[in-house]
Amino acid sequence: MDLKNHIRGIADFPKPGILFYDISPLLAHAEAWKEAVDQLAEALRPHKPDLVVGIESRGFLIAAPLALALGTGFIMVRKHGKLPGDKVAHSYDLEYGTDTIEVQADAVKPGQRVVVLDDLLATGGTMAAAISLLRRVGADVRAAAFLVELTFLNGRDKLDVPSVSLLSYD
Ligand code: PRP
Ligand code: MG
Repeated sequence: MDLKNHIRGIADFPKPGILFYDISPLLAHAEAWKEAVDQLAEALRPHKPDLVVGIESRGFLIAAPLALALGTGFIMVRKHGKLPGDKVAHSYDLEYGTDTIEVQADAVKPGQRVVVLDDLLATGGTMAAAISLLRRVGADVRAAAFLVELTFLNGRDKLDVPSVSLLSYD
C-alpha cells in the first residue's frame, strides 16, 4: 500500500506559497491508518521504549495508538497553560517570537526510555524543543518519529537522536 496516496497536498495553506501536507485522508482510511501505525511500531520497537511521547496537537494522533501497539504508556508534551499540576516548561525561538511547551514534572521517571512522535518534521524546532524538555525531566530520548518529513527544510539536522519518518517530500 502506498501511504502517499492518502496524503493530500493543499496549496497556499496556511499562507500563500506554502504547500500543506494534509494527513486527514490517511487518518480517515482504516487500512492506511493501521498500516502507518504498524510501520512506525516496527521501526521504533528496537529502541525498546518505556513510554511514547506525543507533541500537541497532531502528534497526539500518532503517539496514542502507537503506545498501544508497542504496549507502552503514553505521555503528552503540551502547549503552554494546558496541563494541571507541577510542570516543567521549555521556551524556544520561532521565526518571529517564541513558544513554550510543557510536560508534567512526574511524567517520566529518571532514565526511562522514550520515543517522541509528531505528525510532521519541518524545520525541526518543535521536536528539538520537545527533546530538550524531556531530557530536563530525566528522559532517555531514544528516537524521534514522524509520519511526514519535509526533507528540503533539513529539520533532521537539529535532532541529535535517530529519526524515523514514513513519508518524505522534497
Ligand atoms: C506543526 C506540526 C509539527 C510542527 C512542525 O504543528 O504538527 O508539530 O508544526 O514544524 P517544525 O518542524 O518547523 O517545528 P503546529 O504548530 O502547526 O500545531 P498543531 O500540531 O497543533 O496543528
Ligand atoms: Mg504540531
